[in-house]
Amino acid sequence: SGPETARLVASRVLDVPDFPKPGVMFKDLMPLFADGDAFRDVIDGIIAYHGRDSFDTVVGIEARGFVIAAAIAYASGVGVVPVRKAGKLPRPAYAASYGLEYGEATLEVHQDAFTAGHRVLVVDDVLATGGTAGATLDLVERAGGTVVGFTVVLELSFLGGRQRLAPRPVHALLTV
Ligand code: PRP
Repeated sequence: SGPETARLVASRVLDVPDFPKPGVMFKDLMPLFADGDAFRDVIDGIIAYHGRDSFDTVVGIEARGFVIAAAIAYASGVGVVPVRKAGKLPRPAYAASYGLEYGEATLEVHQDAFTAGHRVLVVDDVLATGGTAGATLDLVERAGGTVVGFTVVLELSFLGGRQRLAPRPVHALLTV
């Protein structure tokens, strides 16, 4: 159930102080993914929330989102599409940039990633400021996909990602 999955996520996430830089508390979800029973609960929980037949493709955001997206896609019998950091995709791609604390970051998706009207579920491990997710949702739509859902395993609500993405709905297995 939702509350049980949230407790499971909370029990497996490790807080790592001062990573990747001083003052930042990094949320490490690798212990959750490394536990086979917990990983299956996470994947099944995301699929159950949206409904197995509600999406045609799963988009994962580099890099930890790939792990989740591939498992959801396989379990649902659909394909997986990567949204990658700039310069990694080999063919013509759309790019979207967003501001970081210092500088900016760019994400890309192949221009032919979706056929028109493709229903796309977007997943990632963590929602923080929402910059990554916002750029990804824009890219999916520019490439012709229809975003039918956005799920993260862990939402850090104090960083305001949900507000930044509004009115688009955000689903999180655990919000802290
Ligand atoms: C992390 C996380 C999300 C993003 C969330 O990825 O996996 O994709 O940051 O941050 P935001 O909501 O403030 O945009 P990271 O940039 O560390 O990439 P990685 O998974 O490739 O290490």
